[in-house]
Amino acid sequence: MTASHQYFVAVIGAGPAGLFGARELVNLGARVALFNRDIKPGGLAEYGIYPNKYTMKGGLRKQFRQIMDLPNLDYYGNVTIGSQGDLTLDDLRALGFQAILVTAGAQGTKWLGLPGENLEGVYHAKDVVYYYNGLPPYSQNSFRFGKRCAVIGAGNVMLDIAHYLCREVKVDEVIAVVRRGPAEVKFDKKEMEYVIDNLDQAALDAEIQRVAPIIQAVGQDPEAARALILGALPKALPKVSDTRFRFEFLASPVQMFGDSENRLTQVELEDNILVASNGDTKAKGTGNKRRLDVETVIFAIGDKVDDSFGLPVEWNEFVKNQSPRFPIDGISYESPHEDVFFGGWSRKASSGLVGIARKDGINAAKVVWQYLQTKQPGEANVEAVATKLKSLGKPVVLKEDVKKLEQEHFEKADYILAIPQRMGKSY
Ligand SMILES: Cc1cc2nc3c(=O)[nH]c(=O)nc-3n(C[C@H](O)[C@H](O)[C@H](O)COP(=O)(O)OP(=O)(O)OC[C@H]3O[C@@H](n4cnc5c(N)ncnc54)[C@H](O)[C@@H]3O)c2cc1C
Ligand SMILES: NC(=O)c1ccc[n+]([C@@H]2O[C@H](COP(=O)([O-])OP(=O)(O)OC[C@H]3O[C@@H](n4cnc5c(N)ncnc54)[C@H](OP(=O)(O)O)[C@@H]3O)[C@@H](O)[C@H]2O)c1
Repeated sequence: MTASHQYFVAVIGAGPAGLFGARELVNLGARVALFNRDIKPGGLAEYGIYPNKYTMKGGLRKQFRQIMDLPNLDYYGNVTIGSQGDLTLDDLRALGFQAILVTAGAQGTKWLGLPGENLEGVYHAKDVVYYYNGLPPYSQNSFRFGKRCAVIGAGNVMLDIAHYLCREVKVDEVIAVVRRGPAEVKFDKKEMEYVIDNLDQAALDAEIQRVAPIIQAVGQDPEAARALILGALPKALPKVSDTRFRFEFLASPVQMFGDSENRLTQVELEDNILVASNGDTKAKGTGNKRRLDVETVIFAIGDKVDDSFGLPVEWNEFVKNQSPRFPIDGISYESPHEDVFFGGWSRKASSGLVGIARKDGINAAKVVWQYLQTKQPGEANVEAVATKLKSLGKPVVLKEDVKKLEQEHFEKADYILAIPQRMGKSY
């Protein structure tokens, strides 16, 4: 049988949102084609989560394998969808897909437009994370991790990068540059445990003392902030390098300077104060500027969606239908096109853990299903999809190929063994 009388849905992106969304749609009765840019499924759960988190990654892989085994789900890896991709949204419509669920994550880069962003040694976290997680083709890139590295941001991604620089690259100094104060760091205690033994506590105390009057002016408690940051100490993982990890609070990068060979030598920071804003605070530049000598700057400030995808983007997000037909908890999962929907980080860039992306993908699938109930089921012509993909003249990875790849990795034992050799012991 090549065509069945069924709702036919394309899901774009096999990260947690796409995989769990696809499962929901299959369980509801749809025939689903899951298109994925990467060869293997998993998205950031495979290529973002820190490589040594074997238990978490292993548990997720097991769930992903079960989804990949669903009979009404076809997987097409190494296929990029988008206006500059292998297939466009109109190609998918022409193949008979009645709804398109975009769960392609947040693949764009949030450039701030600062002078010097193009210098060698200036990177965005996603590229570094994909690199050390071995995602082709990012795994082939080379990076200049110097002795002194500034990481911009105070989220868990900043800590993952600090973790890599302290425990794997073993640079001399990692400086987290944070635009607001110590009371507004966004990272979790658990992630801090990996690097807190490298933290220069005297420098932290001096820094908190320096910014205390500014944060007190907006009602924040410097002692409570200090206690929050040091909360990871009881479970600190013993350090494996002499890397000095420290914070620069209330500072924003404004430009980067390089040498005659275009290599980064300094980042200029502007000091900030905090201003109250709708129950929160905002960083405001004071005009006071100073420079740090660094060979590497890594922006860990979140990502934006891919604005070359072919759907309108505003700020960091795809434009949504502001009057959704099928809202869930007041949230729009809908694009301005009636047949295109969003889930996971494609709906809200860089927000939340795998569990949140999973729930969001499932909600998005429910919305797609509600939309499909307003239509008659069509012909799910899987053979037409296969023919179209063959015409691309590139290798397309099917679910049996993923199984074979995983099996080969197991047999060679590099899946399990090579990464620990490269990345240090498991924890
Ligand atoms: C560095 C880092 C570490 C993290 N660590 C943790 C952690 O330890 N624990 C935790 O719970 N959460 C962690 N997270 C968060 C978690 O990874 C995300 O919540 C989750 O992966 C988002 O899922 P998603 O499916 O929306 O997007 P993604 O996981 O980004 O998946 C997107 C998928 O879409 C595919 N794709 C992209 N563009 C296209 C296209 N044009 N066509 C076809 N396919 C496309 C990609 O190949 C990918 O497979 C981490 C995130 C980062 C950035
Ligand atoms: N191990 C884990 O569990 C893990 C690991 C990685 C990621 N994640 C999750 O993935 C999601 C994304 O993480 P993330 O770290 O990318 O995002 P995040 O938690 O939102 O942190 C982003 C940081 O960048 C700062 N920032 C944003 N724009 C900036 C700018 N223009 N200039 C200077 N600083 C700027 C933010 O400061 P403000 O606060 O001032 O906005 C914030 O400190 C989060 O939900 C995170 O928990 C989890």
